Amino acid sequence: MIKYFETSKEFHLHNEEISYIMKILPNGHIGQIYFGSKVAVKEGYSDYIETAPRYMTSYVFEDDWYFSLEQIKQEYPVFGTTDYRSPAFRIEQPNGSNISDFTYKGHEIIKGKPSIPDLPATYLNDASEASTLRIDLYDNITDVKLELFYTIYKDINIVSRWSKFVNEGNQVQYLDKAMSMNLDLPESNYDMLQFSGAWSRERHVKERTLEQGIQSFGSMRGISSANHNPFFILKNHDTNEDVGNAYGFSLVYSGNFLGQVEVDTHDTTRVSLGIHPDGFKWQLKPEEEFNTPEAILSFSNSGLNKLSQNFHNLYNNHLIRGPWKNKVRPILINNWEATYFDYDEKDLLNIVETAKKVGVELFVLDDGWFGKRNNDDGGLGDWYTNKDKIPSGLDGLSEKVKELGMEFGIWIEPEMINKDSDLYKEHPEWVLETPNRNSSHGRNQFVLDFSNENVVNHIFKELYKTFKDADISYIKWDMNRSLTEVYSKHYTPEQQGEIYHRYVLGVYRLYEKMIEAFPNVLFESCSSGGARFDAGMLYYAPQAWTSDNNDAMERVKIQYGTSYGYPISSMGAHVSKTINAQLNRYIPIETRANVAFFGTFGYELDLNELSEEEIELTKLHIEFMKDYREVIQFGQFYRLKSPFEHNISSWMVTDDEYVIVGVYREINEVNAPFNRIKLKGLDPQAEYYGCTDKKAYSGSELMNIGLITTDGSSGLQRAGYHEASNDFDSRIFVFQKTT
Ligand code: DGJ
Repeated sequence: MIKYFETSKEFHLHNEEISYIMKILPNGHIGQIYFGSKVAVKEGYSDYIETAPRYMTSYVFEDDWYFSLEQIKQEYPVFGTTDYRSPAFRIEQPNGSNISDFTYKGHEIIKGKPSIPDLPATYLNDASEASTLRIDLYDNITDVKLELFYTIYKDINIVSRWSKFVNEGNQVQYLDKAMSMNLDLPESNYDMLQFSGAWSRERHVKERTLEQGIQSFGSMRGISSANHNPFFILKNHDTNEDVGNAYGFSLVYSGNFLGQVEVDTHDTTRVSLGIHPDGFKWQLKPEEEFNTPEAILSFSNSGLNKLSQNFHNLYNNHLIRGPWKNKVRPILINNWEATYFDYDEKDLLNIVETAKKVGVELFVLDDGWFGKRNNDDGGLGDWYTNKDKIPSGLDGLSEKVKELGMEFGIWIEPEMINKDSDLYKEHPEWVLETPNRNSSHGRNQFVLDFSNENVVNHIFKELYKTFKDADISYIKWDMNRSLTEVYSKHYTPEQQGEIYHRYVLGVYRLYEKMIEAFPNVLFESCSSGGARFDAGMLYYAPQAWTSDNNDAMERVKIQYGTSYGYPISSMGAHVSKTINAQLNRYIPIETRANVAFFGTFGYELDLNELSEEEIELTKLHIEFMKDYREVIQFGQFYRLKSPFEHNISSWMVTDDEYVIVGVYREINEVNAPFNRIKLKGLDPQAEYYGCTDKKAYSGSELMNIGLITTDGSSGLQRAGYHEASNDFDSRIFVFQKTT
């Protein structure tokens, strides 16, 4: 999968479908030649490193008017020598200089994939699934070694990258930028898709055509954020879901990040992704090393659906770990929107009893069970059970839930502290804040200094004490504010630029400790909904709460946007009450379920408040999900019609046997057109039995003529056809392959 050609000094990484080609340049740096559909594995691609003499260009070698880094497509560009575009990294040196010159020293082709110390990363189940190239570079003045890692997967169109800096000299150096990847592409005729929004409006699809100059997005919130996601796509203008070339870039990281695309005046496109350089400055002492997070690069020549499937496949099989890997998710009920902080044990058991009757498998006790937490003013940091609310303690309550036939899950927000807490009285110095400055709050809470190992160890000890005797099978790990005034009293002034990253490392460390202590627990990450929905989190928590917005039509958009980069198995999705808490609007329970099916599925309401008819429907919905969750969560997912562009949107999943299609209509129309949806990914020769209309279809028919989804809005609305307006209507179609 990885070939080195000695004469031309070319590296060719390839699998059956993609090629990634690089070359050692005359100055010892690494040049980028090609990333895309597979090309012949042979020597002789060096001519694609094009150069030309140009005025106002600076050249590296005397008497040479060709070799300028400004014109050369590179792998990990340095700062300040003939290349005026954004560098991939920068080292501030003891003499104040930022110039470095990392030249090739050697390389190694490794079977398999090394792990990255202290960071989440994709992994292999068997060393034969991928190969890794490590390229060693060295800067003679700073004595810093730079290792560039490239892993190519055999059966998935993925190249993953990260970099390691090792200080082999005897002086302290400062890394003030260290991106995970840089990719220079020879053209600029791309549209960029980013996934941006806000609280309750996460991962909406935003598309723009690249222009000369820098276009970027990122997060400086200490978390990957709801505002922008560390995943983006570049596609040719004529690429759509089914055809055309597209690149996807994803960062396996949960903190500040920058995704940037720079188009230069010669229409070369420089793509970079990594830790945001603002607020980052890493002290690299002699003998120390720094590893960047892993960046995932994917290429598809068959449109965006294939690109997304590459990421779904990679994350389900090479990122999510433990007993919940590729395992259907339990159907849960969470008490948050049913009770908020106002509950006692009896209220909870009431919810559990009804939930059991309709077929729910797991009860999740959300915020408010610990310390003196009766509202969001206090309690965070005190991880002991509030016996006023839960007299039987967590062990007693979990036992009762178990006796009623359900699993027990619990909510935590371990990274936070309220001033009104015992922990704050004991350890006010554990708050992340800048001395002598105001410290800002979010939701009345402050952030614990997770860069300090003692804080992480303390929180772990407390959680362990409270959880060890309870029968807990699920933990929802929440995080409800962005970081401000980031400064740690635990570190020297010279290390303050490390704190944002060290905070994230502390979060990862606590996750690792919790997973080790509770190996069978299913973790769900959460951050005021989906403000930390990223590949870094998926390494620890196989699923994430997608959004606090449970309005089904809003959820279609959020889940649709999320599906570009993340698998269905990872998307927490619940049926909530109506009138809902987000938009105060009524959405039929069928539609709420039809949307939540395309996720982990669960409930966020008090089932005791449903009508008898709704309870009967709920039983059917749960039965449906139990029958089909394997297909839905782990089948191939296809986006069919975008809710960002159409009133009627649609998606589908399929495995070897079943096809499940979801169709959602936002607003009812008068005398609407007839409607059809063309399915995807079916076997054209096979016969599919329509489980709803009991008719047989051929795969070619469903994919080419299409599935009729015309409903009552087409033609005249007859009196009595529907009792009320059928805005927010939806339907599920199931087909079974019979031949
Ligand atoms: C924010 C989460 O997204 C909600 O689901 C809920 O857990 C609350 N926090 C509890 O405070």
